[in-house]
Amino acid sequence: MLGLNTKLAELESQNNKIKVALVGAGQMGKGMVSQMILMKGMTPSLVIDIDIQNAIEAFTLAGIPQSDIVVAKDIATVNKALEEEKYIASDNSELATAANLIDVVVDATGVPEVGAKIALDSIFNKKTYSYVKCRDRCSSRANLEQISTKCWCGLYRNCRR
Ligand SMILES: NC(=O)c1ccc[n+]([C@@H]2O[C@H](COP(=O)([O-])OP(=O)(O)OC[C@H]3O[C@@H](n4cnc5c(N)ncnc54)[C@H](O)[C@@H]3O)[C@@H](O)[C@H]2O)c1
Repeated sequence: MLGLNTKLAELESQNNKIKVALVGAGQMGKGMVSQMILMKGMTPSLVIDIDIQNAIEAFTLAGIPQSDIVVAKDIATVNKALEEEKYIASDNSELATAANLIDVVVDATGVPEVGAKIALDSIFNKKTYSYVKCRDRCSSRANLEQISTKCWCGLYRNCRR
């Protein structure tokens, strides 16, 4: 992680940003969106929650104006809004791994079976996958690591053990 902020700033100076899709806009998810908005080189492009209001609120709490938020139900709307560099809110978690321009998918739902599906979909769609810790999910971690290594995909975990 040493020098990470410098590398991210370099990326942004090249007019490039890591586009993140976050699934689960609860306590942790909303915090992550606010933090990412303040960072260089990384942006929370797509936020998904089964309660769409949570996804929208994640952006508004981070200071994003309503006019920059697109509510999307389908992949075509998501891909178009990503190209236009809008902030996208949705209630369909399938869109996170299917979106063209998304680089990283973060699972912050805390639901093990939802996380496992997002992890596999991310790996098979060549997206880097990251998750906020959930103790129940640790048992499946070894399997995910094996699969992601075989697929040349990144697998990261946030938070402590
Ligand atoms: N809250 C903390 O202080 C804390 C600290 C460290 C780690 N964590 C971990 O972070 C994770 C999330 O915790 P939290 O406190 O933010 O939980 P939370 O309940 O506040 O948020 C989870 C969100 O995920 C959404 N969600 C559930 N199923 C979904 C689905 N299928 N598709 C889309 N969205 C869905 C819920 O609607 C909810 O808004 C958990 O794994 C928890 O262990 C939490």
